[in-house]
Parts: sequence; C-alpha cells; structure tokens
Amino acid sequence: MIPESFISEVLSRTDIVEVIGRYVKLQRKGVNYMACCPFHKEKTPSFAVNQSRQFFKCFGCGESGSAIAFLMKYKGLSFPDAIKELADALGMEVPEDKETKRRAAEARSLTDFMAQAAQFYQSTLFHNREAIEYLKGRGITQATAEKFQLGLSPDGWQGLQTVFGDQYPTESKLEECGLVIVKDDRRYDRFRSRIMYPIRNPRGQVIGFGARTMVPGEEPKYLNSPETPIYHKSQELYGLFEGREAIRKKGRAIVCEGYMDVIQMSQAGFEETVAALGTSITGEHVKKLFQLSDHVYFSFDGDSAGFKAARRAMESTLSVITDTQTAHFVILPQGEDPDSLIKAQGPEAFEAQIKGSYPLSKFFVMDIIREVTQGSPLKTAEERAKAVAIAKPLLLRMTAQALRQLLVQELATSIRMEPAELATLCGVALVKETPKAEKYQRDYGRDAQQSARYKRPTRPVTTGPIYSNIKRRLLQCFLMNPQWFVDYSDQIEYEMLDTVDEWESLIVQLWRLVLDQVQLLGDGVTSGLSTGYLLSFMQNDPAYSTLSQLVSQEEVLQTPNEVAEFEIKCSFLKLEKANVDASITELLAMEERGENVDGDYLERLFKRRQLIQQSLMQQSAQAVDMVLTTRLGG
Ligand code: GTP
Ligand code: MN
Repeated sequence: MIPESFISEVLSRTDIVEVIGRYVKLQRKGVNYMACCPFHKEKTPSFAVNQSRQFFKCFGCGESGSAIAFLMKYKGLSFPDAIKELADALGMEVPEDKETKRRAAEARSLTDFMAQAAQFYQSTLFHNREAIEYLKGRGITQATAEKFQLGLSPDGWQGLQTVFGDQYPTESKLEECGLVIVKDDRRYDRFRSRIMYPIRNPRGQVIGFGARTMVPGEEPKYLNSPETPIYHKSQELYGLFEGREAIRKKGRAIVCEGYMDVIQMSQAGFEETVAALGTSITGEHVKKLFQLSDHVYFSFDGDSAGFKAARRAMESTLSVITDTQTAHFVILPQGEDPDSLIKAQGPEAFEAQIKGSYPLSKFFVMDIIREVTQGSPLKTAEERAKAVAIAKPLLLRMTAQALRQLLVQELATSIRMEPAELATLCGVALVKETPKAEKYQRDYGRDAQQSARYKRPTRPVTTGPIYSNIKRRLLQCFLMNPQWFVDYSDQIEYEMLDTVDEWESLIVQLWRLVLDQVQLLGDGVTSGLSTGYLLSFMQNDPAYSTLSQLVSQEEVLQTPNEVAEFEIKCSFLKLEKANVDASITELLAMEERGENVDGDYLERLFKRRQLIQQSLMQQSAQAVDMVLTTRLGG
C-alpha cells in the first residue's frame, strides 16, 4: 500500500502537461494544450489538456481524467505503477517497507531468468524443423510467431543448462520462477519438447509460460507455469501486452478461451484479443480490460463447459461493470473455437458472431432460464422461484445501478413478473441511501447548534427542473475549484445533508471526499486538490461520466472564478429561500389549524427571508457589474 499522503504529494507536484507531453505531441491553443487523441483515430485534434485543472479530455471520444488516469489508460498500468512512474519522474521514491523492497528486487531477478529462458526457447524454435512445421501446419506465420515470441523447449532433461550454466544446479530462483523442478535432489527442466507461449505482463516482462505438446493426443496437452511470486493467474491475461494498443484503438476487447485462439485471432486482424490462462475469468481480469476500453466481448464454446465458463465470466463482470460500460457474449457453434472458425470461414465469420452476440442483459436472462428449464419458457411457480433465487446473488453483487435496473426489467418481462416485485424479492429495491446529519457531525465535529439554523420543511421543496438545474450548476462550479467544497462546507451541510435528489447526493459525496482529504493531509494541501485529482477518485464510480461531462462543458464555458463563486452564493441563497418559504407556509398552516407553533422561530424565519431577499437583490446588482467587467474586459 502506498500512503495516501504520498499520492497526494506526487499529484500536487506533477504537471499533467509534462506527463502527457512525454507520449503525445501537445500544442498550446489558448488555455488548453491540444493533440490528436491517442485513444481513438482522428485527423484533427480534439484531445485537450488543461494545465490549471490538471485534467485531460478528448472531445471526440470522451476519454478524460487526471495524469494517473492517462498513464493507466495509455500504458495499461495499474494504479500503483502509474503513481510509481509519476514519482520516478519527480525523483521521488515511493515509500515502501523493507519487505516490499525485498520482494521487488527478487521479482526483478525472477523476470530476468524468465527473459533469458524465453530468448533461449525462441532461438531453439528457429533451428527446429519439426516445430516450425507444426506451427506452419496450424497456419501461423513467422511474423505472428515473432510477435508472440513463440519458442520451443528442447528435448533433453536439462536443456536450460545451456542458458544458466553454473547457476543451473544451484540457483533456487530457477525453481521459484517455475522453470525447473527439483525432485530427490535432482533438477530438471519443467518444459521439455513443447511449443512455448511466453506470458507477458503489461510491462512486457515474461512472467510465465504456456507449453503445448506437439504430439497429438498426448496428455496433458498444455503444461503451464505454476503460480509464482511474479505470476498470478487470476490477474494476468494472455495477449494483453501484445493487444493493449489495439484494445485501446478499437475501443473493444475480445476474450477467448485458448492461447491458440489469441494468436490466430491476432493474425486474422483481431489484435484486441486476450485469454485467461487456463482458469476462469476473474473480476480482476475484467477490471483490467475495462481500464483499457468500455466494451468487452467474451467468446465461449457452445458446450456445457463453455456455458459454465461464460457464467463465471458474467459473475465477474457484474461485480465490476459500471453503467457506461458494456459486456457481450459470443456463444460459438458447438465444437468450434475462434481458431477453427477463422480457419474454416475467415475473419468475417467471427465479426458476424460479434455482431450477433448477446448483450449482458440478454445473456443474463438467457443463462438463468437455461439453468432452470434448459431454455424453454418457465411455466410453474417453482420454476419462477428458482429463477429469482439464481438472479438474486447475481444482482446483489452489482454496483452499476442503471444496468441493474435493466437486468431486473429484462428478467421480470421474460419470467412474467412485475419488475418492482422482482426487485423486492432480490433485495435490490431501487432506493438510495442518504447520509444522516448526525453522522457528518460525528465525522467532522461540526457544531450541531449552528447547523440547526432552520428546520427543513417536512416535505422536500427544492425538487423539480429549476432546482435541479441550480444544483447541477453548483456541482459544476465546485468541480472546477474543489477548494470551494471546503469554503462552502457550511452551506452544503445546511442545504444538502438529507439529500433530496441525485445532484445533492453527488455534491455531498464529493464534499465528503474532499473533507476526507483535508482531514488526511491537513488544511494546507487543499490547493493541491485539482479537478483531475478529485475525479481520479471517482474513476470507478457510476457517476464518473456525468462528472467528466460537467467538467468538459465548463472547459468550453470558461466561467471566470469570480463569476462562478458569485453563482454559488446566489444558488445557495435560492435554495435556502425555498426551504425557508416552505417552512413558513407549513408553520402558518399549523397555526391556522390551531396547533402549537413556536412564535420566536416563526419570527426568525421571517427575518431570515427578508435578509435572503436583500442579499439576492444586492447580488443581482453586482452581477450586472461583473458581467460588464468580465465580458467587456474593463
Ligand atoms: P489448441 O489445442 O492448440 O488449439 O489449443 P487451445 O488454446 O485451443 O486449447 P483448448 O481450447 O483445448 O483449451 C483452452 C485453454 O485451456 C488452453 O489454452 C489452456 O490454457 C487450457 N488447457 C487446455 N488443455 C489443458 C491441459 O491439458 N492442462 C492445462 N493445465 N490447461 C489446459
Ligand atoms: Mn484450439
């Protein structure tokens, strides 16, 4: 774990223009730096980097985020690796404990051994007729073999002796990285006389091997590297290093079942293809793919093993997918895999499968019904109950609210049930949790007396399009200058804690995030709270696209700071006025009904209303001045 304070320091010292400039040629245009977008194909620049906000945004494809997000997307790095790269450039050392350092050093030497082995296997293949013929027979070209660094492990028991010499008999790391096996004090190569498929991590380092026999019918067909300190099957994807660029450019990833599928697909032009390594697809796998593109296609054989694997992939996807991402399922005709399909019918046949693939919501319904009745329509109440029981844990693992609602609706329709009833049965009733004022007071030690300036009327009044617009604009202003979350903390607390709509709850969510940071880092660092930094925390949140949209819209509007702050003041006054008015109305109605009313309180409300009205009038006089000054430049 990298301490948050370190991350904050790195971010506040990093300049996004400098970081992106290392990879993309940027040109200054007004307040932004522009370039052709590295995330999609284009001829005229619509990729904008804003220095003061430490934020990039492509107006063409919508990609956006902080320097961290850029590195994660562009280089396929994990969050810690992206931080590390930023820190390196600043000459800062990521604080790691001794244990982490030791492990890093060890991992480095393990990948060195793997790299040497991979090179050796590759050159062995180059000199071996039989293996070359085998690959040719499977339709693999030399260019493809080189791209995937295919190799051959030699026939003998100690072939790797040639590479590692004196180290071979003694070096324990050779065993640790899975290249040799030690048994009864004897050492021998794990992989002998097999076609070698090196597995590389996103940095291109060889971390494992898949090894296929060339002998038809020999068992096991594949031997794979064991789990080692550098190789974790649940996290790595075969072909990700080779296909990363294509995934980003094409905006989609295809996930197949086998090594050979990845290679054949890549050769046929589907370079965006990866495979899990003889294990089921995990949430970590899917997350990695969604970091590179918003659209993932899974391809499975149409047999029972294929359906089982598809279910696992669906489960993993449901846990990590957000509302702006899509997943599709290709179910191939029985007995076919992408390799055989392409060889028999060409790449168009696979593209057609992609076109006809099931979107997640359809596959979800189909797969559940397949489990209950092997695919025929549900008839009995028992069958329906069973479908609900299967759906429930699947729906509960989702965080994508809109998508979940869609799945509920689709399933409800096809099992002939009311969506609301299904949602209730599954425990996913679509209500939002609202933070409680007491909790915030506890968390942030605010003075309860002070918050009780007026009681909110019993029914929420600041709903409807006018108020929704006001709040949306408030959020937009806050986003552009996160320091205001701190400056207007009291107002947020007064007006929004029992959130009445999604804008309020978003403002509160971000406000909380900012306060957390302030508490964590001390007041001094709020100047480092750039828009990009704030958004980087929200990257995996369903609201992310809304937020980045607000930011990019403001990039165009370019509202001067004084104007934005003025808007914030007016907005809070309007919200407060609506609430005060409603409270007054409520109290007067109570009085009319002869109920007991606190006269002092009513008095204070009237005074407050007068004050608000005065301020609003003053503000609008000021507004005219301000508009004249900023627009006419004098
Ligand atoms: P080809 O037979 O060369 O076309 O390979 P394939 O990649 O199409 O293999 P297949 O579809 O039979 O299996 C899919 C994946 O399951 C493989 O890529 C391996 O990761 C894994 N696998 C298959 N057979 C074995 C095996 O015998 N042992 C292990 N550990 N994994 C296997
Ligand atoms: Mn195959």
